[in-house]
Amino acid sequence: MLRLEDQIHIFNFPDLGDERGNLVVVEGGIAIPFDIKRIFYIYGSDSEVVRGSHANLKSEFIMINVSGTSKVLIDNGLERRVVALDKPRMGLYLKSMVWKEMYDFSPDSVLLVLSNEHYDPGEYIRNYTDYLEMVRK
Ligand code: TYD
Repeated sequence: MLRLEDQIHIFNFPDLGDERGNLVVVEGGIAIPFDIKRIFYIYGSDSEVVRGSHANLKSEFIMINVSGTSKVLIDNGLERRVVALDKPRMGLYLKSMVWKEMYDFSPDSVLLVLSNEHYDPGEYIRNYTDYLEMVRK
């Protein structure tokens, strides 16, 4: 059984800004441990909504609240942790096969997600019981 602390990492990306404002760079394979094949972003989800609720066979993710805040529940079938995404420089890295739920979105939340894989619905595990069976084998 993997330890949750080995399956996630919190990056604090450097701010290259100056008096004109902030600038944060995230280079695939340099600032983060994968080359970026996909980006998507979630906004307009209100505070009652729960998104995600899945694990991925292959995809890894970096989640950045570039505006506003949200929370991510991370679960590996044995351990659970909640991470508050509350700074635009903060990147939450999730390896594959980690269950995640995103919630408590602020009205101005823009949650940017980077991934090492193109979208493939076949690699999503959306049933928590199935997920537990897979990770507890
Ligand atoms: P979903 O996986 O439910 O989003 P979340 O986990 O963030 O709540 O995806 C919502 C819809 O968008 C669903 O029809 C699949 C589609 N989608 C893509 O086509 N490509 C993608 O990269 C993602 C993340 C979703």
